[in-house]
Amino acid sequence: MVQAWYMDNDPSDQRNEHHKNPPEFVDLKKLHDLTGVQYFKLNIEQIDSDGVLEEIKKKNGYTFEDELICSKECLANYEEKLKIFYTEHLHTDEEIRVCIEGSGYFDVRDKNDEWIRVEVTPGDMLVLPGGIYHRFTLDNKNYIKAKRLFIGEPVWTAYNRPVDEMSCRKDYLEKLEKGEFVGV
Ligand code: LAC
Ligand code: NI
Repeated sequence: MVQAWYMDNDPSDQRNEHHKNPPEFVDLKKLHDLTGVQYFKLNIEQIDSDGVLEEIKKKNGYTFEDELICSKECLANYEEKLKIFYTEHLHTDEEIRVCIEGSGYFDVRDKNDEWIRVEVTPGDMLVLPGGIYHRFTLDNKNYIKAKRLFIGEPVWTAYNRPVDEMSCRKDYLEKLEKGEFVGV
């Protein structure tokens, strides 16, 4: 099941949970209100047959889909890629991921620039809005298989922080400020 929590500032291995002491969990509504991140729970056993993902794809216009395995064996330049994934960045478009196997952590900045760590396991689907600062890491199990979805031709370009002058960043902050993500 998906869980989200505020991170500590401990410099130890990024693959650790990094809970605060005591842990401070963030429920999905709060996560959405504070960041604009959307969550969908999919039934992994029936993901290709029950029509739920199909419906989301149709509704949101996600026309592109592929699968990516992140593990030492399957990913070329594994160490380097993981370093890139964990460097705080943003994209001009939504980052849409569905965890198919394994697990991992998406870290997103909240309204107050604090890190919230979102743990994904099979069936968890996340939509990160364009312009949000975020990063990704494997956990201690070192394996995830994920679907990537996109509206139209995919653009995976990552812009490392700071890129506060980008219009997608400004648009994102304006939406957050106006509460346009709240309740949507
Ligand atoms: C990405 C994740 C790692 O940009 O944030 O693919
Ligand atoms: Ni990203």
